Amino acid sequence: MNPHVFPIPTDLASKAHVDARGYEEMYRRSIDDPEGFWREQAQILDWSRPFTQVKNTRYSPEDVTIEWFADGRLNASYNCLDRHAAQKGSEPAILWAGDTPGDQRRVTWSDLRQEVSRLANTLTKLGVKKGDFVSVYLPVIPEAIAAMLACARIGAVHSVVFSGFSAEALAGRIKDCRSRVLITADEGLRAGKYVPLKKNADAALESLPFVEHVLVVRRTSRDVPMNPERDLWYDGALAQAPADCPPVEVGAEDPLFVLYTSGSTGKPKGMLHTTGGYLVHAAASFRAMFDYHPGDIHFCTADVGWVTAHTYLIYGPLANGATVVLFEGVPTWPDASRWWQIIEAYRVNIFYTAPTAIRSLMREGEAPVRKHDLSSLRVLGSVGEPINPEAWLWYHEVVGGGRCPITDTYWQTETGAVLLCPLPGAMALKPGSAAKPFFGVRPALLNSDGSAVEGEGAGNLCFADSWPGQARTILGDRERFLKTYFSTFPGYYFTGDGARRDADGYYWITGRLDDVINVSGHRLGTVEIEAALASHSSVAEAAVVGFPHEIKGQGIFAFVTLKEGITESDELRRELLQLVRTRIGPIAMPDRIEWAPQLPKNRSGKILRRILTRIAAGDFESHGDTSTVADLSVVEDIVRRFQKQN
Ligand code: WTA
Repeated sequence: MNPHVFPIPTDLASKAHVDARGYEEMYRRSIDDPEGFWREQAQILDWSRPFTQVKNTRYSPEDVTIEWFADGRLNASYNCLDRHAAQKGSEPAILWAGDTPGDQRRVTWSDLRQEVSRLANTLTKLGVKKGDFVSVYLPVIPEAIAAMLACARIGAVHSVVFSGFSAEALAGRIKDCRSRVLITADEGLRAGKYVPLKKNADAALESLPFVEHVLVVRRTSRDVPMNPERDLWYDGALAQAPADCPPVEVGAEDPLFVLYTSGSTGKPKGMLHTTGGYLVHAAASFRAMFDYHPGDIHFCTADVGWVTAHTYLIYGPLANGATVVLFEGVPTWPDASRWWQIIEAYRVNIFYTAPTAIRSLMREGEAPVRKHDLSSLRVLGSVGEPINPEAWLWYHEVVGGGRCPITDTYWQTETGAVLLCPLPGAMALKPGSAAKPFFGVRPALLNSDGSAVEGEGAGNLCFADSWPGQARTILGDRERFLKTYFSTFPGYYFTGDGARRDADGYYWITGRLDDVINVSGHRLGTVEIEAALASHSSVAEAAVVGFPHEIKGQGIFAFVTLKEGITESDELRRELLQLVRTRIGPIAMPDRIEWAPQLPKNRSGKILRRILTRIAAGDFESHGDTSTVADLSVVEDIVRRFQKQN
């Protein structure tokens, strides 16, 4: 037997929702009869008005249409709350672990339903109506989940902005969806440090007079300025609001949320997700990919600001009635056993995290893990970037005790929920492979000329048909939506990733093919970082590329050309780092900034990033095809400077 293939655990397979034969049969059926298949899957939800149409989708160049369950009606918060509260109101929906060890909260289904209802009533009182956007800038606290579900309850559309983003980044995202209400907190708390959320929000709102109300959650209860005309304390407002709020029925194709993500051009894209298809895909895939069974405790470490948390910390699990662990802090503070301690304390069964975290915890050795009893774990998951085999093996052996399958889940903010992943009871595992397509999903590997790669081989990862969780558009920019995803390979959705298919039909993601980099599982557009650097008065131009980084997967490498007469200095480097921090946030700060007298360009003046990517990776020999470089001496110049330093 191939030592690099991990067989399906037999005891797990015997109890699993889907076993190997089941997968083959269900997958076949989902492709042959998508309507029948998804009609059945959609029964995982309660529909206030059942749908008669299932799928109305086309990817043809003249007409891209994506509609699922279009005439059905439902409410997402009802599906995630009321139907569970009615059955097990006093059981926990959320087990929250705060940044400080010992700081914890247990939120029952009834508590959560009540809080969501009060908040929904508060939002209504503030003038929020069905279809309005509400921005949410909160730490990982139960109120963040309440905020999302409260919007869903009244048919409003939430836009969660990662609390690590700067004031400027927040402002851009509020402006784009024009929300008139913002929900934030006094401060966040991460690794013992205060994050000035209200202060950032105030700065963001200086340029946004259309924001009428700011609801402020007391998280640290330290002093923050309040603007009496605009700001309201969350607890005070909720105390006055009625505890009952009937869920508003919405159409399946009415929007549920917008979430901004980076693309290969400047401005972040607001991916718009709708209610019915998204929730069906989230709920059904959560159940299958983690082999969720009632009573399981699910711990997803993602921040509420990312799609991973939207789908597999909040909507997917809660729609299934799963109890979720919500953790505010970081895995290495106060020490590297924090996650393991939480898993032991809450007897976590399903654990979902990103490779970058596994790599950084690996560095701390096995001792912090071994100190804890992790025998409750049954299924592990990985998401956000390719997982290298060393990290996979460590995760499998040390964290999972060699017993728990790892589901390596490939998907995107745009896809809403998973597209490729092994199902734990159905597929043998190969470390580093996202295995096979989820039900109804039709992957295709295409050559640059659009021809399909058959059998074994590598190519541009595309999908030949729609799936229910797919984003419907980029908010306010349908043209960009069509151009980005449907124009490169007409008739297909193009992911922007490369992939390989092996002889067993397993998929291996090889990484982004566009100007997007994946830093610690966070997706960043190099163009956004370049724009931030170039806004400094001393900078003539900048080019940003990814380079291999042991922990982060990819690090950020910036080549900066200064204006005539400006002297290179460490001081200037620090100013540039600070500038990126204020314009975007700490996650976008370059790991390295190097001065380049000029940047390599082609004859029409386009910066040749692929050459810089090679240099950043320490490859000074092969620049690949240099026939398009306008002036080769520019490349030689950069290489000479580098060789001197390294
Ligand atoms: C990458 C995160 C390899 C990929 C859910 C994709 C992955 C981008 C995997 C989307 C995986 C995500 N293996 N690469 N299992 N999962 N990616 O929008 O490049 O933050 O296009 O969504 O992350 O990142 P996003």
